[in-house]
Amino acid sequence: MRKVLIPIDLSEVSEEALRHAVECPCAETRELILLHVVDPLDIKSLGLVGLVDREQELRNEMEKEGRRHLDELVKKYARDGLSFKTRIVFDRPWRGIINTAIDEQADAIIMGSHGRGRIAEQLLGSVAERVVRKAPVPVTIIRPRKMRDHLIARWRHLGKES
Ligand SMILES: Nc1ncnc2c1ncn2[C@@H]1O[C@H](COP(=O)(O)OP(=O)(O)OP(=O)(O)O)[C@@H](O)[C@H]1O
Ligand SMILES: [Mg+2]
Repeated sequence: MRKVLIPIDLSEVSEEALRHAVECPCAETRELILLHVVDPLDIKSLGLVGLVDREQELRNEMEKEGRRHLDELVKKYARDGLSFKTRIVFDRPWRGIINTAIDEQADAIIMGSHGRGRIAEQLLGSVAERVVRKAPVPVTIIRPRKMRDHLIARWRHLGKES
């Protein structure tokens, strides 16, 4: 796994996926591509709340916010032997993630199980689920720490799960 794509939705969970990619001692990763996808549907839904004429402006703001966040992460996780590339894409997130993995010839995708949505009872967020189902490269799913601890406790208690 020399080249790994990390989709970043600006949540703490996606940063945990990045931390895993950077710190995993078994990885021979040399290049990390940090990708933020701006969803046109998010812009449209914001536009509906009385902001119809501001679509382009909102798009620019969301691009800027994404870029700033990715740049901060690059600074925070920079280390010798690891190169970073950042990309912002406008698309549905799951489709942007898969197409970028293919374009960049990534060996793998490492992403959070959840993101900015509310951490609900569901075991996987909708973007994570679609990427796992459709991506042509291996996908590693990282759970938020709290959920990981909760699942471990439940497995210990029950012994087995269905
Ligand atoms: N817009 C995005 N750009 C880049 N990566 C994303 C984006 N949205 C989600 N991801 C990636 O997918 C992972 C899982 O997020 P997902 O959106 O599936 O969960 P959620 O937000 O909790 O649920 P949902 O979106 O279904 O309400 C995130 O940790 C991140 O790695
Ligand atoms: Mg989400």
